Amino acid sequence: MKSKRQLPSPRFVLPLINWGVPTLRRHKARMSKVVTVRDLQKIARTRVPKAVYDYVEGGAHEEISLARTANAFLRVELQPNVLRDISNVDTSIEIFGKKTAMPVIFAPTGYTRMMHHTGEPAVAEVAEKNNLVYCLSTMGTTAPDDLASAVPGARRWYQFYLMKDRQASLDFIKRAKDTGFEVLMLTVDTPVSGIRARDIRNGLTVPPKIGLKTFLDMTTKPNWWMNLLTTAPLEFAAFRGYKEPLAQLAAKIYDPSLNFEDISWLRTVWDGPIIIKGVQSVSDAEKLADIGVQGIVLSNHGGRQLDKGPVMIELLPKVAEKVGGRLDIYVDGGFMTGQDVVAAIAFGAKAVLIGRAYLYGIMADGQNGVEKVVEILQAEISNTMALMGIAKISEINSSHAKLRSN
Ligand SMILES: Cc1cc2nc3c(=O)[nH]c(=O)nc-3n(C[C@H](O)[C@H](O)[C@H](O)COP(=O)(O)O)c2cc1C
Repeated sequence: MKSKRQLPSPRFVLPLINWGVPTLRRHKARMSKVVTVRDLQKIARTRVPKAVYDYVEGGAHEEISLARTANAFLRVELQPNVLRDISNVDTSIEIFGKKTAMPVIFAPTGYTRMMHHTGEPAVAEVAEKNNLVYCLSTMGTTAPDDLASAVPGARRWYQFYLMKDRQASLDFIKRAKDTGFEVLMLTVDTPVSGIRARDIRNGLTVPPKIGLKTFLDMTTKPNWWMNLLTTAPLEFAAFRGYKEPLAQLAAKIYDPSLNFEDISWLRTVWDGPIIIKGVQSVSDAEKLADIGVQGIVLSNHGGRQLDKGPVMIELLPKVAEKVGGRLDIYVDGGFMTGQDVVAAIAFGAKAVLIGRAYLYGIMADGQNGVEKVVEILQAEISNTMALMGIAKISEINSSHAKLRSN
C-alpha cells in the first residue's frame, strides 16, 4: 500500500524539535562537539600563537618522516574475529609489575607550560586520575622535585639526557631517585639537535619575545598571553641557574660522544628499570637487549630529529621478531587513535607513547583537554577490541593486524 500524505501534526512534530539554547561561549560549545583527537588538534590551532603550535606540530627539515608516518597509519589493516565473548573488555596491562589502565603512556615533551600555563603537573594529574604513566622530560618547564610535590601519587618516569658532564648527570639521576621517579628513560636520538625548519623560520625563542608580529598575534590569542604573563616565567626548570640561551644549553645537554658503553655504565648507577628511547634499527635493539636494559622505545622523536629515517610502525614487527620477550618494546610517533594503539600491540609493542595527541588536548583546553584525550583513546581502544572480538590486551597477537602494501 502507498504511503498516504497528511498535514504535519504538532503532536508528532514538537517532540522532534531539539534546539539548544544559543551560547556565547563558543569555546565551550566547540569542546562539547569533540569526538576525536584530530578535533582537539583543530581547536588547539586556534588557541595558541602560531610559533607555539608549529613547535608542537613540526618535524625536522622537510618533514618527510612525519608525512611517511601519517601515510603508514593509512596502511594499517585490522583483522577482526567474530563470535567471541566480549561482554567484558579489559584494556589494562601490567608495566613493571603494576597495572595501568591502557597501553598508552604520556611521552616526555619539553616546555609543556608553553603550550598551556598549567603544563606538566596538569598532564601528570590526568595520568594519576586515570591510572596511567607520565614521563617527565629533562627539558620540562617543571622540575622533577616540583612535579613530585604537585602529584606525589602519580606514576612518574624520568626522561633524561646523559650530559657531557657525567657528574651533573649523576646529580640528575640522584634527584630523580630521591623524588620517587620509577624508571629512567634515556633519550639517545639527539647526539645533536634536529634542524627544525618551522622554529627557525618563526624565530621561536623560549620564552617567546614580544616583537611587533608577536604583539599583533597577542590580540588574537589574549587568553594564552594573559596566562603566560601572569604565571611563573617559563624556564627549563631542571636547569634553574644555567644562564645560556637555548642552543648553547642544548649543546651542553646533548652529548655527541654517547655510546653503548655509557649504557652499561648507566646500569651501575641506577638500580631501577632503564628504557632507551630513540632506537631506530633491529641491530641497535639487539645490542641493547644484550646489554640488558629493561625496555626500548622505537622512536624518531616524532619526526623531529633525523628526517627520512625509518617509520616506527613499519620497523616494529621486525624488532619484535628479534628481541620480543627479551625486553619491553614501546613505540611512538603519530599515534592519534585507539585503532592504531591496538595495531601496535599486534605488531609486538607493549605500549604506545603519545606526544602530540595530549599536547593538542592541553593547548585546546588545558587539563580538561588532556582528560578528553584519555577518554577518547580509552573508548576507542575498548571499542576496537570489542569489534575485533578481543576481551583482553594479552589476547592481541600478530594475526590481528597487518600493513597493507598500498
Ligand atoms: C613538543 C614536543 C617536545 C618534545 N620534547 C621531548 C623531550 O624533551 N625529550 C624526548 O625524549 N622527546 C621529546 N619529544 C618526543 C616525544 O617524546 C615523542 O617521541 C614524540 O612526540 C612521539 O610522536 P607524537 O608526538 O607524534 O606522538 C617531544 C615531542 C614534541 C612534540
